[in-house]
Amino acid sequence: MAKKIFPLVSGLLALTGIIASLLLSAPPAMAHKNQSSSSASAVAEASTTVNNPEDAPMAMAWPTEPGMGMEMDHKKPKTFGGRLVSWLGAWHPAVIHFPIALLLTVALLEVLAAARKKPVYNAGNKVLLAFATAGGFAAAALGWANAGLPAADDGTALTWHRWIGTLIPFVYLLLWRLKRPAETAVNQPSSRLYETTLVVAVALILIQAYLGGDVTHGAGHMAF
Ligand code: HEM
Repeated sequence: MAKKIFPLVSGLLALTGIIASLLLSAPPAMAHKNQSSSSASAVAEASTTVNNPEDAPMAMAWPTEPGMGMEMDHKKPKTFGGRLVSWLGAWHPAVIHFPIALLLTVALLEVLAAARKKPVYNAGNKVLLAFATAGGFAAAALGWANAGLPAADDGTALTWHRWIGTLIPFVYLLLWRLKRPAETAVNQPSSRLYETTLVVAVALILIQAYLGGDVTHGAGHMAF
């Protein structure tokens, strides 16, 4: 029983801890609210003022100049709690790879097992889902530390990213709960509910990753 609730308890503790610190400390300065758009507009402004190509190096705006989106580096929170939350938030882009990659691996193994009619391929997926769930809760908690609490000037991408990202660990948890343990998975096919939830989870994580890229790099970051 203790093993079964480990991903839930550890994840919820992390999420609760971060949100509680956010509420108790000064708002962190990590969120890149409108950073990409302000950077993009500053670059566009800089480039439109360059008529003579020879002037280009002089006219280029330096990334740390006001309006280039990096001023936030100078606005570090002053309290210990604020700095801690800000520092934790900086880990969000590093941690998110685990829940994304693990879920896509689980899905790939399910497809392989079905295509090759070898249930052994997906038998170990419950373990992968346990790690993915723990990673999902950690990623969401660190996302809150990075973004801070919802604010009026949050962009649409961040708003969707915030709430889909908060939902995702719970969808993962449901998947983990629905996945049969390895010993039974090799003999019994997965339930229809598990398969449907897996498809929904894959769609959610792809949308979530795209929105995350949008928050960090701006709209059109995947343009060909
Ligand atoms: C499982 C949940 C989550 C996943 C998989 C995820 C994924 C991502 C990805 C892929 C990026 C882009 C990273 C990059 O291009 O370097 C990102 C950035 C970001 N995410 Fe999330 N995210 C999740 C949850 C959250 C939550 C719940 C929030 C807010 C409450 C959040 C806030 C942010 C912010 C503010 C950024 C920009 C970070 C920066 O540029 O430093 N994320 N996320």
